[in-house]
Amino acid sequence: CLTPELIHQHDLSGKIAVVVDIFRATSCMVTGMAHGVQSIHPVATVEECLQLGAKGMVTAGERGGIKVEGFTIGNSPYEYMREEFQKQSIAVTTTNGTRTILASEGAKEIIIGAFLNLSAVARHIQQKNSDVLIHCAGWKGTVNIEDTLYAGALIAELSGTHAHTGDAALLAHELFRANQTDLMKIANNSAHAARLAGFGVAKDLELCMQQSKFDVVPIYENGEITSLTQK
Ligand code: MLT
Repeated sequence: CLTPELIHQHDLSGKIAVVVDIFRATSCMVTGMAHGVQSIHPVATVEECLQLGAKGMVTAGERGGIKVEGFTIGNSPYEYMREEFQKQSIAVTTTNGTRTILASEGAKEIIIGAFLNLSAVARHIQQKNSDVLIHCAGWKGTVNIEDTLYAGALIAELSGTHAHTGDAALLAHELFRANQTDLMKIANNSAHAARLAGFGVAKDLELCMQQSKFDVVPIYENGEITSLTQK
Protein backbone atom coordinates (compact mmCIF):
# COMPACT_ATOMS: atom_id res chain seq x y z
CA CYS A 1 0.00 0.00 0.00
CA LEU A 2 1.91 3.04 -1.26
CA THR A 3 -0.03 5.65 0.73
CA PRO A 4 -2.31 5.42 3.79
CA GLU A 5 -5.09 7.02 1.71
CA LEU A 6 -5.42 3.64 -0.08
CA ILE A 7 -5.35 1.43 3.02
CA HIS A 8 -9.16 0.96 2.90
CA GLN A 9 -8.62 -1.07 -0.30
CA HIS A 10 -6.63 -3.67 1.65
CA ASP A 11 -7.66 -6.39 4.05
CA LEU A 12 -5.28 -6.19 7.01
CA SER A 13 -6.75 -9.05 9.01
CA GLY A 14 -4.37 -11.94 9.59
CA LYS A 15 -1.45 -10.00 8.10
CA ILE A 16 1.67 -8.40 9.49
CA ALA A 17 1.62 -4.71 8.58
CA VAL A 18 5.11 -3.24 8.17
CA VAL A 19 4.81 0.54 8.47
CA VAL A 20 7.52 2.60 6.82
CA ASP A 21 8.36 6.30 6.70
CA ILE A 22 12.03 6.32 5.71
CA PHE A 23 12.40 10.15 5.86
CA ARG A 24 12.23 10.10 8.83
CA ALA A 25 9.63 8.89 11.32
CA THR A 26 10.15 5.13 11.30
CA SER A 27 13.93 5.53 10.91
CA CYS A 28 13.82 7.59 14.13
CA MET A 29 11.75 4.94 15.92
CA VAL A 30 14.07 2.11 14.89
CA THR A 31 17.09 4.19 15.97
CA GLY A 32 15.47 4.96 19.33
CA MET A 33 14.69 1.31 20.00
CA ALA A 34 18.27 0.38 19.06
CA HIS A 35 19.57 2.94 21.57
CA GLY A 36 17.61 1.79 24.60
CA VAL A 37 14.47 3.96 24.46
CA GLN A 38 11.86 2.05 26.46
CA SER A 39 8.72 2.91 24.47
CA ILE A 40 7.51 5.28 21.77
CA HIS A 41 3.91 6.50 21.73
CA PRO A 42 2.72 7.67 18.30
CA VAL A 43 -0.18 10.12 18.43
CA ALA A 44 -2.08 12.08 15.81
CA THR A 45 -1.98 15.58 17.22
CA VAL A 46 0.39 18.08 18.83
CA GLU A 47 -2.09 18.45 21.71
CA GLU A 48 -2.07 14.71 22.52
CA CYS A 49 1.71 14.73 22.41
CA LEU A 50 1.92 17.66 24.83
CA GLN A 51 -0.54 15.90 27.17
CA LEU A 52 1.76 12.86 27.29
CA GLY A 53 4.67 15.26 27.81
CA ALA A 54 2.88 16.66 30.85
CA LYS A 55 2.79 13.10 32.22
CA GLY A 56 6.58 12.87 32.00
CA MET A 57 7.25 11.63 28.48
CA VAL A 58 9.81 13.16 26.14
CA THR A 59 7.94 14.96 23.32
CA ALA A 60 9.12 14.53 19.74
CA GLY A 61 8.04 15.29 16.21
CA GLU A 62 7.59 17.74 13.42
CA ARG A 63 5.20 19.55 11.21
CA GLY A 64 6.46 20.26 7.69
CA GLY A 65 9.82 18.80 8.73
CA ILE A 66 10.35 21.39 11.50
CA LYS A 67 10.42 20.61 15.23
CA VAL A 68 7.13 21.55 16.91
CA GLU A 69 7.48 24.50 19.27
CA GLY A 70 7.58 23.32 22.89
CA PHE A 71 8.64 19.75 22.04
CA THR A 72 11.81 18.27 23.54
CA ILE A 73 13.18 17.10 20.18
CA GLY A 74 12.30 17.19 16.48
CA ASN A 75 12.41 14.29 14.04
CA SER A 76 16.08 13.48 13.54
CA PRO A 77 17.30 9.90 14.14
CA TYR A 78 20.40 11.38 15.77
CA GLU A 79 18.22 12.93 18.48
CA TYR A 80 16.85 9.47 19.29
CA MET A 81 20.40 8.28 20.05
CA ARG A 82 20.77 10.59 23.04
CA GLU A 83 21.88 8.74 26.18
CA GLU A 84 19.44 10.64 28.38
CA PHE A 85 16.51 8.98 26.54
CA GLN A 86 17.58 5.44 27.47
CA LYS A 87 14.77 3.72 29.42
CA GLN A 88 12.57 6.78 28.72
CA SER A 89 9.21 6.94 26.93
CA ILE A 90 8.87 9.24 23.93
CA ALA A 91 5.53 10.62 22.68
CA VAL A 92 5.72 11.47 18.98
CA THR A 93 3.59 13.06 16.30
CA THR A 94 4.72 13.55 12.70
CA THR A 95 3.08 14.65 9.47
CA ASN A 96 2.74 11.21 7.87
CA GLY A 97 4.54 8.47 9.79
CA THR A 98 2.54 8.40 13.01
CA ARG A 99 -0.81 8.55 11.20
CA THR A 100 0.24 5.60 9.01
CA ILE A 101 0.93 3.56 12.14
CA LEU A 102 -2.47 4.48 13.57
CA ALA A 103 -4.13 3.64 10.22
CA SER A 104 -2.69 0.10 10.39
CA GLU A 105 -5.00 -0.97 13.23
CA GLY A 106 -6.67 -4.27 12.35
CA ALA A 107 -3.49 -6.03 11.29
CA LYS A 108 -2.39 -9.14 13.20
CA GLU A 109 0.86 -7.34 14.07
CA ILE A 110 2.11 -3.83 13.35
CA ILE A 111 5.88 -3.75 12.84
CA ILE A 112 7.97 -0.60 12.38
CA GLY A 113 10.25 -0.91 9.35
CA ALA A 114 13.13 1.13 7.97
CA PHE A 115 16.23 0.43 5.90
CA LEU A 116 18.05 0.53 9.24
CA ASN A 117 16.39 -2.73 10.39
CA LEU A 118 15.62 -4.30 7.00
CA SER A 119 17.12 -7.75 7.70
CA ALA A 120 15.73 -7.99 11.24
CA VAL A 121 12.19 -7.31 9.98
CA ALA A 122 12.56 -9.77 7.09
CA ARG A 123 13.78 -12.46 9.50
CA HIS A 124 10.87 -11.80 11.85
CA ILE A 125 8.35 -12.14 9.01
CA GLN A 126 9.96 -15.36 7.80
CA GLN A 127 9.84 -16.85 11.31
CA LYS A 128 6.16 -15.96 11.57
CA ASN A 129 5.42 -17.39 8.13
CA SER A 130 2.75 -14.74 7.65
CA ASP A 131 1.30 -12.67 4.83
CA VAL A 132 2.55 -9.08 4.86
CA LEU A 133 1.20 -5.69 3.94
CA ILE A 134 3.90 -3.04 3.54
CA HIS A 135 2.24 0.24 4.51
CA CYS A 136 4.11 3.26 3.13
CA ALA A 137 3.53 6.67 4.69
CA GLY A 138 4.16 8.67 1.51
CA TRP A 139 3.57 12.40 1.83
CA LYS A 140 0.09 13.78 2.53
CA GLY A 141 -1.63 11.23 0.32
CA THR A 142 0.98 11.07 -2.43
CA VAL A 143 3.41 8.26 -3.16
CA ASN A 144 7.07 8.85 -2.37
CA ILE A 145 10.26 7.34 -3.72
CA GLU A 146 12.01 6.46 -0.45
CA ASP A 147 9.17 4.42 1.09
CA THR A 148 8.51 2.69 -2.25
CA LEU A 149 12.21 1.81 -2.47
CA TYR A 150 12.04 0.30 1.00
CA ALA A 151 8.96 -1.74 0.02
CA GLY A 152 10.96 -3.06 -2.95
CA ALA A 153 13.94 -3.86 -0.74
CA LEU A 154 11.78 -5.81 1.73
CA ILE A 155 10.09 -7.66 -1.14
CA ALA A 156 13.57 -8.58 -2.41
CA GLU A 157 14.61 -9.80 1.07
CA LEU A 158 11.48 -11.94 1.27
CA SER A 159 11.65 -13.29 -2.26
CA GLY A 160 12.75 -16.76 -1.07
CA THR A 161 9.60 -17.25 1.02
CA HIS A 162 6.98 -14.76 -0.20
CA ALA A 163 5.48 -14.06 -3.63
CA HIS A 164 4.37 -10.47 -4.13
CA THR A 165 0.93 -9.64 -5.44
CA GLY A 166 -0.38 -6.57 -7.25
CA ASP A 167 1.19 -3.89 -9.41
CA ALA A 168 2.16 -1.65 -6.48
CA ALA A 169 4.42 -4.43 -5.16
CA LEU A 170 5.78 -5.14 -8.64
CA LEU A 171 6.50 -1.44 -9.15
CA ALA A 172 8.28 -1.20 -5.79
CA HIS A 173 10.36 -4.29 -6.49
CA GLU A 174 11.39 -3.08 -9.95
CA LEU A 175 12.21 0.40 -8.60
CA PHE A 176 14.48 -1.14 -5.98
CA ARG A 177 16.13 -3.53 -8.44
CA ALA A 178 16.85 -0.71 -10.88
CA ASN A 179 18.44 1.47 -8.19
CA GLN A 180 19.94 -0.92 -5.67
CA THR A 181 23.55 -0.10 -6.51
CA ASP A 182 23.03 3.55 -5.52
CA LEU A 183 19.86 4.06 -3.48
CA MET A 184 21.14 7.39 -2.16
CA LYS A 185 21.24 8.88 -5.65
CA ILE A 186 17.53 8.42 -6.32
CA ALA A 187 16.61 9.17 -2.69
CA ASN A 188 18.42 12.51 -2.98
CA ASN A 189 16.21 13.34 -5.96
CA SER A 190 13.04 12.73 -3.95
CA ALA A 191 10.52 15.45 -3.14
CA HIS A 192 11.08 15.06 0.59
CA ALA A 193 14.85 15.40 0.25
CA ALA A 194 14.17 18.69 -1.56
CA ARG A 195 11.69 19.71 1.15
CA LEU A 196 14.25 19.01 3.89
CA ALA A 197 17.19 20.51 1.97
CA GLY A 198 16.99 23.86 3.73
CA PHE A 199 17.03 22.30 7.21
CA GLY A 200 20.62 21.00 7.17
CA VAL A 201 19.63 17.37 7.65
CA ALA A 202 21.67 15.73 4.86
CA LYS A 203 23.30 13.42 7.42
CA ASP A 204 19.86 12.28 8.60
CA LEU A 205 19.01 11.23 5.06
CA GLU A 206 22.28 9.34 4.67
CA LEU A 207 21.70 7.47 7.93
CA CYS A 208 18.10 6.65 6.99
CA MET A 209 19.28 4.96 3.77
CA GLN A 210 21.76 2.64 5.53
CA GLN A 211 20.67 -0.97 5.45
CA SER A 212 20.41 -3.38 8.40
CA LYS A 213 22.48 -1.29 10.80
CA PHE A 214 20.28 -2.16 13.79
CA ASP A 215 19.03 -5.57 14.84
CA VAL A 216 15.71 -4.49 16.36
CA VAL A 217 12.08 -5.25 15.51
CA PRO A 218 9.85 -2.55 16.98
CA ILE A 219 6.20 -3.56 17.38
CA TYR A 220 3.19 -1.26 17.91
CA GLU A 221 0.56 -2.65 20.28
CA ASN A 222 -1.74 -1.15 22.90
CA GLY A 223 -0.78 2.38 21.88
CA GLU A 224 2.97 2.00 22.22
CA ILE A 225 6.00 0.84 20.29
CA THR A 226 8.43 -1.44 22.08
CA SER A 227 11.22 -3.63 20.85
CA LEU A 228 10.44 -7.30 20.25
CA THR A 229 14.09 -8.20 20.65
CA GLN A 230 14.07 -6.77 24.20
CA LYS A 231 11.06 -8.86 25.28
C1 MLT B 1 6.68 12.46 8.45
O1 MLT B 1 6.15 11.75 9.33
O2 MLT B 1 6.02 13.01 7.58
C2 MLT B 1 8.18 12.64 8.37
O3 MLT B 1 8.84 11.84 9.25
C3 MLT B 1 8.59 14.06 8.19
C4 MLT B 1 10.04 14.39 8.47
O4 MLT B 1 10.92 14.15 7.65
O5 MLT B 1 10.35 14.92 9.53
